[in-house]
Amino acid sequence: MPRLALYPGSFDPITNGHLDIIVRGLAIFDSLVVGIGENIAKQPLFSVEERVEMVRDALGEIPNVEVISYSGLTAKFAEQIGASAILRGLRAISDFEFEFQMTLANRKLFPKAETVFLMPCLSNVFLNSSMVKDIVSMGGDVELFVPPGVVERLKIKFGGA
Ligand code: PNS
Repeated sequence: MPRLALYPGSFDPITNGHLDIIVRGLAIFDSLVVGIGENIAKQPLFSVEERVEMVRDALGEIPNVEVISYSGLTAKFAEQIGASAILRGLRAISDFEFEFQMTLANRKLFPKAETVFLMPCLSNVFLNSSMVKDIVSMGGDVELFVPPGVVERLKIKFGGA
């Protein structure tokens, strides 16, 4: 049976670190759904539609991956799409506590999906979306950290285009 994994996140915006996890995930699973969900602890910079577009744009012609936004629980969405795994990237020890809580919560809510963690390559290990937004807001360059389409959108958001 083909194995589908859900890769959920805020993707506000997608970074090269996320892309790294997607490519690694596709080497393990038959297909992936990148799920753009809501993190109640975060106030997003980009709308859901913008985030979906940026991820789709960044993926280009990469096969076997779909981008879908969802509201509500990640576990429910995983069940709805028939995912057998929830994929997450793990960078530093600081990620661990949140990931641990989320994994156990998702396991209770949908035991059929196993959460699988992958680590990005060393050059992406420090990267996160908040840092990227911080850098751009202070006039810094993020070409090395995000896909090209995202650079443009960030510049427009922060009024630098
Ligand atoms: O990229 P993020 O912000 O780390 O992604 C977090 C996300 C969106 C996957 C998480 O907040 C989430 O699962 N939100 C949906 C609501 C939910 O299922 N909450 C219970 C698990 S924390």
